[in-house]
Amino acid sequence: MNVSFPAAKALCLGAALVANALSLPAHGTELTRDNGARVGDNQNSQTAGPRGPVVLQDLHLLQKLQRFDRERIAERVVHARGTGAHGEFTATADLANLTTASVFTEGKTTPVFVRFSTVVHGNHSPETLRDPRGFAVKFYTVDGNWDLVGNNFPTFFIRDAIKFPDMVHAFKPDPDKNYGTNRTLFDFFSHVPEATRTLTLLYSNHGTPATYRHMDGSSVHAYKFVNAAGEYRYVKLNWKTRQGVKNLDPQEAAQIQSTDFNHMSRDMIEAINRGEFPRWDLYIQVIEPEDMDKFDYDPLDATKIWPDVPERKVGTLVLNRNPANVFNETEQVAMAPANTIPGIEPSEDRLLQGRLFSYADTQMYRLGANHQLLPINQPRVPVSNHNQGGLMNTGSRSGEVNYEPSRLLPHPQTASARYSELPLSGTTQQRKIYKEQNFHQAGELYRSFTRKEQRDLINSLGAALGEADDEARHHMLSFFYKADADYGKGLTRVAKGDLARVQALAAQLED
Ligand code: HEM
Repeated sequence: MNVSFPAAKALCLGAALVANALSLPAHGTELTRDNGARVGDNQNSQTAGPRGPVVLQDLHLLQKLQRFDRERIAERVVHARGTGAHGEFTATADLANLTTASVFTEGKTTPVFVRFSTVVHGNHSPETLRDPRGFAVKFYTVDGNWDLVGNNFPTFFIRDAIKFPDMVHAFKPDPDKNYGTNRTLFDFFSHVPEATRTLTLLYSNHGTPATYRHMDGSSVHAYKFVNAAGEYRYVKLNWKTRQGVKNLDPQEAAQIQSTDFNHMSRDMIEAINRGEFPRWDLYIQVIEPEDMDKFDYDPLDATKIWPDVPERKVGTLVLNRNPANVFNETEQVAMAPANTIPGIEPSEDRLLQGRLFSYADTQMYRLGANHQLLPINQPRVPVSNHNQGGLMNTGSRSGEVNYEPSRLLPHPQTASARYSELPLSGTTQQRKIYKEQNFHQAGELYRSFTRKEQRDLINSLGAALGEADDEARHHMLSFFYKADADYGKGLTRVAKGDLARVQALAAQLED
């Protein structure tokens, strides 16, 4: 077992305590095997004489190689490359009228672990690549762990979880080449007009943030905040960086990539080591359930922001400690939208509903059934239920009762933690949402950019679209033309499309 020196000291202290309890000699800091036995020689394998083969009975050698052979675990299927940091969240407003979650009691401080990430490529891929960035926060609250698993972009490419695996396949390397192509990427997206706003963000300079410290974050979805009276409201949550938003333009990104493909991890670790602790303010937007139909878009559509709903600051996040061991903390952390606490519930957003299943499912595969027992994932409150067994279970279950209800071991339930009640009518169905509005917010985003940002976007996206097949290219161009005619014309010029054809296709689109 390889351990750092302070950890080795703690381990050896632990070993001494156990040894004393068992009246055995303690080992001090000597090198041991995983079974605690001291090692005689860590430099020379046991051989049959000076020229003979290495013998199978060199148990220390066998175990050292076996442990090395198993060092890697399955990487995350998306968001594989991440950077984590510890910190705390302090509530600056009292939200008791909105939610029973005590993390939002004014002045209350809650420990957090945050994991930032790139999305598409594997662990150790360049951090300069054009990508959304993950912004996932685990709050260790007194009501249990709450994970707010968001991104830097406030919108997503799709609005229904059923499209997610296909979308990720289109973004990832092609199966026959092991590198991605714009031919397959836009072959997929030419069927996905709802991606127009988020693709505009991706190919703008927001797709290459300067550092993790210099980007905002968002829940993307609405969640439901539920108060003590059982009333719920729809709430979006947005992180705003106190460091200011800074992005790289294509030339800057290319220059950094040629010299440092770890620039975002390096920046975060070095800033925290210097004592420059990054901060973000948390803002919420709230919609009453009876107002949900009053917008010209669907507020539960993850491809939309809520531009006309006021924002209110409710707290501040500060990151002040780097992980001691990246594997144990950043790699093994399991963030899941299903980790909610009483007072915070999922909305009916179709994308979020799929995420509720997917994360815990992949974590059971990636880390095992007992991943919540790992120190980085453990709630800071007692866990008391009858889930049991499974691989690598280090829990402390004891006693004869492993069921509920029981008179021998009563487990009272908390009435205030019951789920809120949603009125329903109608039939089950498989249909699109009825207010798609695929292009309007993309046009507004394009027009909000400076001239330089618009130029960079048109050059980056236009060049990528130029590599798409003819038909997919013209469908894609028609989406951007529908969002904003100047935007569409600029892209058509760079992508060498036929403007009359783009205009004819755009005329068939509805918004
Ligand atoms: C139906 C849509 C989606 C599905 C099925 C999905 C699925 C996944 C899966 C399987 C992982 C790997 C988790 C792990 O191994 O621990 C992941 C990671 C992640 N996803 Fe999603 N995702 C979806 C949409 C989104 C959206 C909309 C956001 C942002 C709001 C998002 C943000 C993240 C982040 C930040 C991580 C990395 C978490 C970490 O740092 O450990 N995903 N996603």
